[in-house]
Amino acid sequence: MKLSNFINGEWQEGEATYTAVLNPANGEQLAEVRMSTKEDVDRAVKAAVNAQKKWALVPAPKRADYLYEIGRLMKERKEHLAQVLTKEMGKIIEEGRGEVQEGIDMAFYMAGEGRRLFGETTPSELADKFAMSVRAPIGVVGLITPWNFPVAIATWKSFPAIVAGNAFIWKPATETPMMAYEMAKIFQEVGLPPGVANVVFGSGSEVGTAMIEHEDVKVISFTGSTDTGSKVAELGGKHLKKVSLEMGGKNAVIVMEDADLNLAVEGILWSAFGTAGQRCTACSRVIVHKDVKKELETMLLERMEKLTIGDGMDESVKVGPVINKNALEKIHSYVQIGKEEGANLVVGGEILDNGDLAKGNYYAPTLFSNVKPDMRIAQEEIFGPVVSLIEVDSLEEAIEVNNGVKFGLSSSIFSRDVNKIFRAQRDLDTGIVYVNAGTTGAEIHLPFGGTKGTGNGHRDSGVAALDVYTEWKSIYIDYSGKLQRAQIDTE
Ligand code: UN1
Repeated sequence: MKLSNFINGEWQEGEATYTAVLNPANGEQLAEVRMSTKEDVDRAVKAAVNAQKKWALVPAPKRADYLYEIGRLMKERKEHLAQVLTKEMGKIIEEGRGEVQEGIDMAFYMAGEGRRLFGETTPSELADKFAMSVRAPIGVVGLITPWNFPVAIATWKSFPAIVAGNAFIWKPATETPMMAYEMAKIFQEVGLPPGVANVVFGSGSEVGTAMIEHEDVKVISFTGSTDTGSKVAELGGKHLKKVSLEMGGKNAVIVMEDADLNLAVEGILWSAFGTAGQRCTACSRVIVHKDVKKELETMLLERMEKLTIGDGMDESVKVGPVINKNALEKIHSYVQIGKEEGANLVVGGEILDNGDLAKGNYYAPTLFSNVKPDMRIAQEEIFGPVVSLIEVDSLEEAIEVNNGVKFGLSSSIFSRDVNKIFRAQRDLDTGIVYVNAGTTGAEIHLPFGGTKGTGNGHRDSGVAALDVYTEWKSIYIDYSGKLQRAQIDTE
């Protein structure tokens, strides 16, 4: 199967270079994807500019009707979509279904915004004058999405964009184009006006750059690595783009001495090894009170040894492969760094290549203990199934260690003490805080994003996402019939 761009409601034909899409579970080729050029981007932007002018005039509840249809089709095809997702990305099928559900939820939630998109009315300081603010669409927006959530993150960005009256160009990650292809088919089937939704496949350096540099693309919303994100911001800054960035994490679970340890272990396993640790919300540090450190370590080790690893299509598997060989090497090199830094490798720490596993990209769930907060394995994003156990003496120290990294996406505390919990939720410097749950599992109707190096102040999801895709317009209507001067005639 050859995946081609979806531009102006049509599948782009013609000569092009293609690159293979591989199943990370077994190395099999799933498809080939077009590596688009700047000219392809120009074509998509042109279509989007034309379409957006009319789309902005369609009443928002009518725009929302398309989202209801998109949600309905996604629901109807949920199992098929989940299987495509698991094959191209590697996450276990249960999580594949969960991710598709996240997209479905977003469709219905954002469709509801078609009848809200609230602005404000407020009294004027002058007599016989009316004041209000409304959300106005911005125009054409460029969406750059990562391979770890091939569909959910795209829905967080594209659905608010279109309900608010924008048109979009979506560049999915080269590793996971098949979900974008499936979504493009859905956009076509629901009859979205041609040019409102466009998918352009290809590399960040060619397609991403062309999108950011194009004068008709007004907003860039990016989720991915911190390195790439800062390049996007730099180039976007030069071209005066509104840039929304969602980047790395170094998320911690704090386990206090009064925690339900069984529950904490469940939370750690799920958020550290789900998606093979390749979530920006994944738990990669466990900050544990010294009184329960030994017990927690033993309990974790026992459970980690039982985790089944393999192809995520097998319902009994708990940990799937990582995305590609580069990722495998990067994870493994961090494990070497951890050992050199003097951390204690409790379990894992190896590339798995026995039997069928050799065909895919599998890394053993890995636990380091006796990790010091300033070690590189406790500071840098590894993006794999590797967890560092850090011992602390108090809640204050736990919070300090949690906050002592350059990222600030998600954090969690396990405790039964209401005072500790409330102090922690106030002082943990992350965009998302969980109490008695792991660091993953954000729901689509709340803002998603982080502080410090995780982002640049914007949020995906929730009503907050609308701020990325709308301009505030303040409107004053003077019905006094005379010239009234604000700040002057109010004396
Ligand atoms: C991501 O890892 O980039 O909260 C997104 C979660 C998911 C989304 C993760 N709902 O883990």
